[in-house]
Amino acid sequence: MTTINRMHHKILVFTDIHIKSEGEKIVGYDPLERFDTGLKHALKHHPDADHLILTGDLTHNGRPDQFARLKPLLADLPLPVTLMTGNHDRRDTLLEAFPDQLVTESGHLMRVIDLQGAAPFGPKDRLICLDTLDGPPWREHHHAGALCRARMEWLKEQLDTAGERRVSIFMHHPPFHTGFDGMDAIRMMDHDAFYDLVKQYPNVAHIFAGHIHRTISGTAHGIGFTIFKSPTHQMPMMLGETGYAHSVPEPGAYGIILLSDEGVIVHSEDFDEARRHAVQGYDD
Ligand SMILES: [Fe+2]
Repeated sequence: MTTINRMHHKILVFTDIHIKSEGEKIVGYDPLERFDTGLKHALKHHPDADHLILTGDLTHNGRPDQFARLKPLLADLPLPVTLMTGNHDRRDTLLEAFPDQLVTESGHLMRVIDLQGAAPFGPKDRLICLDTLDGPPWREHHHAGALCRARMEWLKEQLDTAGERRVSIFMHHPPFHTGFDGMDAIRMMDHDAFYDLVKQYPNVAHIFAGHIHRTISGTAHGIGFTIFKSPTHQMPMMLGETGYAHSVPEPGAYGIILLSDEGVIVHSEDFDEARRHAVQGYDD
């Protein structure tokens, strides 16, 4: 039996799972099967996880049947789940399928997750999950993200009340350039106001995003960030490319975040490729 030495909190993240309707595929895969495979892998190997966060693009078209296909996979999980919107989702159909998800007074799908310090030590953490979906009204082929005044005011309130807590922000659309020109044109467009606010709070430690479908990390405006891959389809390494709909069946992944007393430690697990047979030493 494995003894779990808990010196951190562990958060599992799936992004851009893009559930399609029955019989439809992306790059030859049913995204539902890809998410099912990844989620089973994550739950098997991380039974100590505290929370599961899905950072948007839960569905490919925001249709009720697509959310209905997702629903059984998230039923009876052994840990709490937070759902977030992406540009491919629709807030109303998401909430019809998942009415237990928290919404703000302005009707946005946003919430705070407060974690007590990991026993026996460790800092307290506040996770802020934002809704960057721009609409309604829904405009065809509009994929850029937004944080309207109501959402920005809500974010400020969560930052103001965070106290000593270390803050991580989760949002579907990155608020910075990644080098993929086509995707950068549809990033979170209220980026200036976002960073003007967030940079006033030195306890904001990290930003987690999706949208690009590729593992990307670094700092932007002095704050660390990580973008995770999709379980199904990835952005090919075509920096400078102006399109935004390129997809390749490179290995899928999910994210594992360890919130420890040392910092925010981020792993990306390619669940198809993962090998768990330990190799003792080297042959050469
Ligand atoms: Fe996506």
